[in-house]
Amino acid sequence: MTLDGVPRQIFLAGQWRDAADGSRFGVQDPGTGQQLCEVSDAQDADVGEAIEAAVAKQEEWAATPPRERGEILRRAWQLMTDRADELARLMTLEMGKSLAESKAEVTYAAEFFRWFSEEAVRIDGRYARSPAGGGRVLVSKHPVGPCILVTPWNFPLAMGTRKIGPAIAAGCTMIVKPAQLTPLSMLNLAGLLKEAGLPDGVLSVLPSTSASRVVNPALADPRIRKLSFTGSTEVGRKLVEQCAPNLQRMSMELGGNAPFLMFEDADLDAAVKGAVTAKMRNNGESCVAANRFHVHSSVAGEFVRQLTEAMSSLKVGHGTEDGVKVGPLISAEQRDKVVELVEDALSRGAHATTGGKALDGDGFFYAPTVLTDVPPDARILREEVFGPVAPVTTFEDEDEAVRLANDTEFGLVAYVFTRDLDRAIRVGERMATGMVGLNTGLVSNASAPFGGVKASGFGREGGAEGIEEYLDVKYMALSLSGTP
Ligand code: SIN
Repeated sequence: MTLDGVPRQIFLAGQWRDAADGSRFGVQDPGTGQQLCEVSDAQDADVGEAIEAAVAKQEEWAATPPRERGEILRRAWQLMTDRADELARLMTLEMGKSLAESKAEVTYAAEFFRWFSEEAVRIDGRYARSPAGGGRVLVSKHPVGPCILVTPWNFPLAMGTRKIGPAIAAGCTMIVKPAQLTPLSMLNLAGLLKEAGLPDGVLSVLPSTSASRVVNPALADPRIRKLSFTGSTEVGRKLVEQCAPNLQRMSMELGGNAPFLMFEDADLDAAVKGAVTAKMRNNGESCVAANRFHVHSSVAGEFVRQLTEAMSSLKVGHGTEDGVKVGPLISAEQRDKVVELVEDALSRGAHATTGGKALDGDGFFYAPTVLTDVPPDARILREEVFGPVAPVTTFEDEDEAVRLANDTEFGLVAYVFTRDLDRAIRVGERMATGMVGLNTGLVSNASAPFGGVKASGFGREGGAEGIEEYLDVKYMALSLSGTP
């Protein structure tokens, strides 16, 4: 694919332009390790201009009719849907995932626009009589104001649309800082939103080699009223501190360490299928990826046998090749981290029933891997793998399963497989996570509130909850004379 027509400049308040000092940086194809193209590298002056533009446009944008904002999102959904193949190909080139995965992400990403096009016209309020009589309580909701949205490389479109969608719907202006490794999909999306009718000034997209160059001035400016961040817990903690002086609103979608629990009464085929989905979606590079598999000892042998068979049959290769299910990891650094975690587990007595190594050749490939006999002190059970590795351990009863699942600082999602409805609800309620997949390996859905607890962050994206993150509540007290 040529990259003709794919924007590589900064999108500043609706206009394409070079960085203030003309600097650029390279974007690579993780499937070959080769550079794809260069993109403008936003500088301090560009960030300053984007902040001014977002602030200047806020009042006018907030006053646009909700239906108008909804229609823009609806047109953007349509454009994304019409261009799904093209968007998917670009995503595969810069991020590595297979074309089928990229296509699924385009659909998922577009769905946030369709969902929030419908939410834009449902921003509600309340009118109530005060308990003492005489007074009235008027509650209304208003856009929080200009936002800074920071998106990760693993879902280059969807993690953007689930922030941009509700921000547009609520009437907020915004600056987006896309991941340095995958800026092209987001720049392309900016062009598409302009085509869908998004007025100049509402959105700026600033790719940069330095996240802090973009984020720090925004958070230091009290006129920027919200940060939405998807990324590591380590960075999230620092950003929370940075928001303290100006008390900006925050949504923090941080790391995970998802447990996958399979009970002895589970449907084995469904559990293996769910395990492959929960583990291998996005090459395992997802914060909702099942990170560790805890299986009842009576069914562990058969589960491992079938999971090994399923994992070893997945075709690995460049994401654009036919039939490929597993693409490269995003970078040499990410691949080396997976190598390190697996070596650590093997050195402590774990065994690989398939995979267990990086693959030779160009690009950053790692073989789909199943590990058994993983001891509790193995790092892979505690750290987010972000790769195609499934470590399996066993448990004897429900209490032990729950204890193992919750024995982590993270709390994003848990997967529970059982045919017993009572147990599903009982265990689901005991999971210290923001989300639970019951007999499914996929929880992501634009109509549902995505988010975690504990070190996985706070705030929700998607669902009816998603737009609330971009709205402030105002209460007006009304004193009525002559009424009881
Ligand atoms: C993530 O990995 O950050 C989110 C994945 C999803 O929305 O499914």
